[in-house]
Amino acid sequence: MLYNKLKPFPDDFLWGASTSAYQVEGAWNTDGKGLSVIDMMNHSTESADFTVASDHYHQFKDDIRLFHELGLKTYRFSIAWTRIIPNGTGEINEQGLQYYEELIDELHRYGIEPIVTLYHFDLPYTLQENGGWENRDTIAAFVNYSRVLFSRLGKKVTYWLTINEQNTLILHPGAVGMPKNGELPSKKSLYQQNHHMLVAQGEVMALCHSMCPQAKIGPALNMTSMYQATSKPEDAIAAHNWETLRGWSFLDLATRGEYNYLLWRYLEERGWQPKIEQGDLKIIKEGNPDFIAINYYSTATISESTGEKSDVMPRAGDQQIMLGEPGVYRPEENPFLDKTKYGWIIDPVGLRLTLRKVYERYSLPILISENGIGAPDQLNDDLTVHDTYRINFIKAHIEQIQQALTDGVEVFGYCPWAAIDVVSTHQGYNKRYGFIYVNRGEFDLMDLKRVKKDSFFWYQKVIESNGAIG
Ligand code: BG6
Repeated sequence: MLYNKLKPFPDDFLWGASTSAYQVEGAWNTDGKGLSVIDMMNHSTESADFTVASDHYHQFKDDIRLFHELGLKTYRFSIAWTRIIPNGTGEINEQGLQYYEELIDELHRYGIEPIVTLYHFDLPYTLQENGGWENRDTIAAFVNYSRVLFSRLGKKVTYWLTINEQNTLILHPGAVGMPKNGELPSKKSLYQQNHHMLVAQGEVMALCHSMCPQAKIGPALNMTSMYQATSKPEDAIAAHNWETLRGWSFLDLATRGEYNYLLWRYLEERGWQPKIEQGDLKIIKEGNPDFIAINYYSTATISESTGEKSDVMPRAGDQQIMLGEPGVYRPEENPFLDKTKYGWIIDPVGLRLTLRKVYERYSLPILISENGIGAPDQLNDDLTVHDTYRINFIKAHIEQIQQALTDGVEVFGYCPWAAIDVVSTHQGYNKRYGFIYVNRGEFDLMDLKRVKKDSFFWYQKVIESNGAIG
């Protein structure tokens, strides 16, 4: 739809930026922190590990001062479960609680609204050793951990996110690293884990509402739209298959508390249905989110798969690069769209479409909790970083958010990935996303100095003008 005049961004629009604990903090074994699955995974020997990351744990005050200079209205970060309860259950680590309390106080001192993710990929390793999310006991562990946070930080935090990208954890577990034994869980196990996460999430959302009545809580999923490759009806079915299995089925559960019929048939057909105990569905249903957070990076184009093995692409997939599944969907190239250096399709208009679809389906306000472009930025001798590609990427996406707002979609915040350079989930340090450059290499930690990129100064103006970037 074309408009003569676009709606302005609301005055209280939350302009922000994101990070996650294990990708930014470092200090992997400091001040009583326990080991997480991330600390114990086999990471590629060609890229940085997470032990030091961006050293935000030690430099958070200086970083927040820079976030203030950038003009952030909000900062989305995650809490490392293993700093709070080092073994997942049992003893609480006061130093961990103090750290996040200070961080939140520092944000408030600058008038920056904290958006806190409870869990962003870094499950305590002790829980993993006992079966991780496949073990039902992890539900109680997550609820207990969340209770500790709500009780200590509840008065200081308005926005909570439950689980970051549950769909990535279930559909692309390898994107977050390989277990030491080199074996990813079976699909049957993954869908059982999925079910337990949903029960845990349902309980935690209800708990949040009872313990922190002023707070708002929602899930954060990796959402995208699927285009059908041609007008062939079978391609439309395939695109619908994958859009449902990858996105809708997760959101249907998180928001409506219902197993999507198509997901259920897909699971039944393969013998992958989870064991559902009495009362589980009630708990999932009673955990009503106040909003939906979406991480949006790209879209995919899909054609019919007639079941041939060759419908799986001979290349590495990750949370954004679709691989294909015989009999379900086959990924195709999209001749209208470019890709990043890492093969992720760049599709700003797809963001508008995804926002519309999510809003139409669930009628809940939407927070864009991630969106960004990974690139091997170069630091120049004069301490500049000319990341024009990032400015272009974010500008084009902000324009589409404004289109979506004009369409009538309720979007209340935008938190690009990332506030500052962080370690990528599986592609090292030099795949950078931040507005702030961190002077370190893949392995050489150098001086970890912070340098404002061109995108920093540009985003600062965007925020100052409340999105008037045209
Ligand atoms: C999202 C994750 O899927 O994508 C982030 O929530 C991640 O943790 C981001 O960093 C970018 O992906 P990557 O793999 O390039 O780090």
